[in-house]
Amino acid sequence: MEHRIAAGEGRGLSADTGSAPAQWNRNRRDFMRIIGSGALLATLGPLTACSSGNASSRIDELRQQLLADEGFWADMNAMFPLNPAKRFMNVGTAGSMPKLALDLFDTENRAKAAECLSGYTNLLAERTEVAPGFGVDPDELAFSANTSSGMCHAILGLQWSPGDVVVTTNHEHPGGDVPLAIAAARYGIEISRVALPVGNNQTAALYATLFDSRIRELRTQGKRVRAMMFSAPTYKTGTMLPIAELMEIAKLHQLITIVDGAHLPGMMAYDYAQLGMDFMSGAGHKWQCGPGSTGILIVRNKIRASNPLPLPNWYPIHTSSWTPRERTTNGTATYDIASVITSCGSLHTPMFHALVSSCKLWDQVGRKKIETYDLTLSAYLKERIAENWGVDRLYSPKDDPKLVSALTSFNPFVNAGDVMNSTKSGQFVTRMLSDYSPGFVIRNVNVPVIGAPSDHYAIRISTHLWTSVSDVDRLIEAMWDLSRKMG
Ligand SMILES: Cc1ncc(COP(=O)(O)O)c(C=O)c1O
Repeated sequence: MEHRIAAGEGRGLSADTGSAPAQWNRNRRDFMRIIGSGALLATLGPLTACSSGNASSRIDELRQQLLADEGFWADMNAMFPLNPAKRFMNVGTAGSMPKLALDLFDTENRAKAAECLSGYTNLLAERTEVAPGFGVDPDELAFSANTSSGMCHAILGLQWSPGDVVVTTNHEHPGGDVPLAIAAARYGIEISRVALPVGNNQTAALYATLFDSRIRELRTQGKRVRAMMFSAPTYKTGTMLPIAELMEIAKLHQLITIVDGAHLPGMMAYDYAQLGMDFMSGAGHKWQCGPGSTGILIVRNKIRASNPLPLPNWYPIHTSSWTPRERTTNGTATYDIASVITSCGSLHTPMFHALVSSCKLWDQVGRKKIETYDLTLSAYLKERIAENWGVDRLYSPKDDPKLVSALTSFNPFVNAGDVMNSTKSGQFVTRMLSDYSPGFVIRNVNVPVIGAPSDHYAIRISTHLWTSVSDVDRLIEAMWDLSRKMG
């Protein structure tokens, strides 16, 4: 008996809990058998046959796309010094440096120690090398310590007045939430949170509506809404909040925009000048595979057609190179704001040089090529989860291309309600590493779900350029096996 969940069955799992997860090739065989057998078709009914066929062919298609360039991605994998006893699928928390970046880091560290070198620099040459990969000029790309540091630069540098309202979401990371809380305590800003949906049944248009209607509602109440802050993607469900659509809402309402883009550098090939947000704070040490304590902060520093709103008043909170200057009102920057942010005392230059070498590798490979591979792997994983556990087990959307990222969150437990058991969810993560060879490095994450009595503790998986399609197949098998063993 197939354990695969029939279309429309939802969160429940079939009784056949002992079988192996559906194999892509077995599904294909099943599909061929189904279309070749009138009797079986009659037994299963048209809906099951049809949906099984579609899911199966989509999985086949994704698999073929991933395998088309298998050798290339195997070579990429070989560029990283990854422990072969494990499969690293928590890039959303920590990446790994490619060997060339690591070697450079090592050499420069030793030279720094040997020669007592200092790091008094604004890293202009390095910003000039990296900025084009992000679609911006060097004065619009600062190096920060990480995403959280970039969010502090952005939020705590803005000139707030008591009663200013920031519209954000209930799925934010402390990296953004904490500076918001400081701004609330110190400057009297107010925070209004939009509750986010979870799962596949959502579209990008919904996010525009959610933010737009909240802003209108607040303004009707006489509130002074000044900014929007949101993660894209969120670290909880991996939902890519649609930046372009949300920028339209921000511009309509003349708002400052702050994007927590922790996962964007190295995963998505975005052009930030075109997107036009005021701030995008990303990590250097996650998907971009730079050293720890590195981040990339994009700051709007001139007026472009993509965002004609005036630049907000902003003061640096962490610098040793500032003098008072007006921000520009036209297309030419009045000063290099990224220099002010980057330059704060003596920097650990080997660290940033290693980040630059990683960024250059990404540019050589092609940021779009990496994005496509990551998202295809993630689509394959999401389809295989839907195939085995049912689509309703996904917290991440899979069908609206504007909402997808390379993060996938889902509920693996036989009893769906167990996802609210944080201990059990934690044990699942631990056992995926300890009970399998290779062990899988994944994580869990608490997700507030609209209408749920308590948070869900979903399992979160990151698929990046060193992961192969067979790694995903093995992961699915291991997760299926463990979920049955844990009952
Ligand atoms: C959405 C989001 N924001 C911020 C952070 C904090 O990142 P960092 O360690 O780069 O400060 C994370 C980390 O996982 C995150 O997922």
